[in-house]
Amino acid sequence: MEIARLEQAGKVYQSGDSEVVALHPTDFKINRGEMVLIIGPSGSGKTTLISLLGCVIYPSQGKVWINGTYTQGLNDVALANVRLKNIGFVFQSFNLIAPLTVEQNVMLPLTLQGKSKKEAGLAARAALDKLGMTHRLASLPKMLSGGEQQRVSIARALVGDPPMLLCDEPTASLDVKSVSVVMQQLQDLAAQSHGVIVVTHDQRLIPYASRIIEVSDGMAKEISKTDYVHHLQNL
Ligand SMILES: Nc1ncnc2c1ncn2[C@@H]1O[C@H](COP(=O)(O)OP(=O)(O)OP(=O)(O)O)[C@@H](O)[C@H]1O
Ligand SMILES: [Mg+2]
Repeated sequence: MEIARLEQAGKVYQSGDSEVVALHPTDFKINRGEMVLIIGPSGSGKTTLISLLGCVIYPSQGKVWINGTYTQGLNDVALANVRLKNIGFVFQSFNLIAPLTVEQNVMLPLTLQGKSKKEAGLAARAALDKLGMTHRLASLPKMLSGGEQQRVSIARALVGDPPMLLCDEPTASLDVKSVSVVMQQLQDLAAQSHGVIVVTHDQRLIPYASRIIEVSDGMAKEISKTDYVHHLQNL
């Protein structure tokens, strides 16, 4: 079952009187139960692609559907609600909120949805437990290492059980053990009928993927996982 779809969606940025085509018109669909990896060189358009899927930028052209909702014409408040209900984000920079503790950061998506403090706290501690972070509940983000902050931001993305999870380099600051913990979590989530999209440079994540999209110079194309693995072996 489809969770998000782009139809000829593209993004052009104006800088001065020149235009940057960050993403050419792209067709893309992700179903529940899939984990899609997005790979490609720096500046190729990967973050732009998931930002369109995350409704954090407006497309310059084309159409975006999230869980059956056609997003065009929605105002900022309506769009924020679509995001809150449907999408968990793990950003390239962790975007944890500095004056809030680890526990409060992870509770936030739920309190924003109007859940009680008690319910939000229980869910936050369960999510942090999955990522091995319960020993730092009362810490502020600045007291944590990069890998620990990344695990907290993943717990925050998981906590509301959103049908779609968008992750931009979720394993960049993680050691081998944390990578397998995080990827196992994401794979479990996909298996429980969520859609998971992971932007990565990290070859270690390939075995976890159900599909691979390669972005190059603003053009996204699906490539076969077996072809890609062969290609890597022949480098
Ligand atoms: N707000 C913006 N204004 C102007 N140009 C932008 C903006 N955001 C991105 N771009 C340009 O669009 C292109 C694609 O950027 P994008 O961030 O999607 O790349 P990326 O594949 O995520 O790269 P990286 O691997 O370095 O994160 C780049 O040329 C970038 O300079
Ligand atoms: Mg990027």
